[in-house]
Amino acid sequence: MPGIILIGAQWGDEGKGKATDLIGTKVDYVARFNGGNNAGHTVVVGDESYALHLLPSGIINPHLTPVIGNGVVVDPEVLFEEIEGLESRGVDCSKLLVSSEAHVIAPYHRTLDKVTERFLGKHKIGTTGRGIGPAYADKINRVGIRIHDLFNAEHLRNKVEASLHQKNQMLVKLYNRRAIDIDETVEDLLKYGEKLKPYVANTSLVLNQALDAGKTVLFEGGQATMLDIDHGTYPFVTSSNPTAGGACTGTGVGPTKIDRVIGVVKAYTTRVGEGPFPTELLGDDGEWLRKQGHEFGVTTGRPRRCGWFDAVVARYATQVNGLTDFVLTKLDVLTGLESIPVCVAYDVTSADGSTHRVSEMPVDQAEFTSATPVYEQMPGWTEDISTVHSFDDLPQTTQNYVHRLEEISGCRISAIGTGPQRDHIIEVHSLTD
Ligand code: GDP
Ligand code: IMO
Ligand code: MG
Repeated sequence: MPGIILIGAQWGDEGKGKATDLIGTKVDYVARFNGGNNAGHTVVVGDESYALHLLPSGIINPHLTPVIGNGVVVDPEVLFEEIEGLESRGVDCSKLLVSSEAHVIAPYHRTLDKVTERFLGKHKIGTTGRGIGPAYADKINRVGIRIHDLFNAEHLRNKVEASLHQKNQMLVKLYNRRAIDIDETVEDLLKYGEKLKPYVANTSLVLNQALDAGKTVLFEGGQATMLDIDHGTYPFVTSSNPTAGGACTGTGVGPTKIDRVIGVVKAYTTRVGEGPFPTELLGDDGEWLRKQGHEFGVTTGRPRRCGWFDAVVARYATQVNGLTDFVLTKLDVLTGLESIPVCVAYDVTSADGSTHRVSEMPVDQAEFTSATPVYEQMPGWTEDISTVHSFDDLPQTTQNYVHRLEEISGCRISAIGTGPQRDHIIEVHSLTD
């Protein structure tokens, strides 16, 4: 089973870190393909909890090679902070490979992210403020800095000049900020280039050679389907492609090398930042879910918005990613509820004012924003499920809940998370064979 993609099926924070760690024991390479340090992936090993932002979560498994693919945007300052933090805890990062074609997040991208959000006011996206959007905007505008640009002083200066020419005008004249100093920026980036050199590689070649040799590669997505720049709830999205297709463009590996696409999905739904969220619970039920599920951001610490499971979203994720399996996480969080609502369709209002029921994702964002969930009620359970390791040992109502989610989401559930620890897992079907 050589090429496996793992992506988020909702709005992020589904437990991709834990799922990567689970599969990581059986793979040779783990490659991040999109996003940057806007991600916050948690891996819990015994008493130790690791929060990975830019590095692939697989790095915790000492036998595998972690890769940062060309589709990732790399903030070198954050990368070294993360490497040093992990190494001080005994995690070896020396095998890390970073694509020479990945784009760099420079300090001015972070500045622009923050001032743009402030300028947008009530229209803001609620970004993580890490410079992600501005770095991808430069990539698409063809004024980005790539990792291999950091190895040539003259070349780098030309690129930084080209990039800052327009930005400094904007910062000074529109945002009333100080201009960015070109010399200082170039000097700092060159220093990071020197430090980065030992890690930099032609990662597309490395991954293709590994796959051709029968090795297993796990492609670990940051963010999630509903945050995808093309397929998500635009404009309330991130600036990359976290969907399965992004794994190919973001690593330079062709789709014929992919054997499996795993979607990680929570047994309920959460979202951070602004944007529509049909099943969101604004009252006591939302507060209950946030408390039970410890729903606070790993990257920004923001409280996550919480709501019931949305099968329209899950079905859409199955479709746009071509999912072969789901990993269902945080099922334990629902323990204690008498009855669990599950959204199976929406009532939406069209531009002409008419209302109709849909069971597929509306492509019109105005319709999606108007969506009122249609709920089906599933009986809950009170038993502690965190020590259960076989599906058949789950309470019957829990089994029914899982089977119903599977049915309405259009894809089989191959593993179930019953707690944050490594062994809080029920494997129903193998994820790697
Ligand atoms: P990611 O961004 O998709 O990797 O997810 P995050 O790490 O941001 O958020 C998931 C949170 O849920 C983390 O604190 C995990 O430790 C925790 N977690 C993962 N799976 C489970 C599970 O099955 N049950 C419970 N209770 N917690 C889980
Ligand atoms: P993981 O990988 C949840 C959200 C931000 C904001 C929007 C755009 O941990 O699941 P950005 O900084 O990317 O320009 O912000 O996307 N966002 C996430 N939400 N989990 C994430 O990552 C996210 N990464 C970005 O909150 O709404
Ligand atoms: Mg996260």
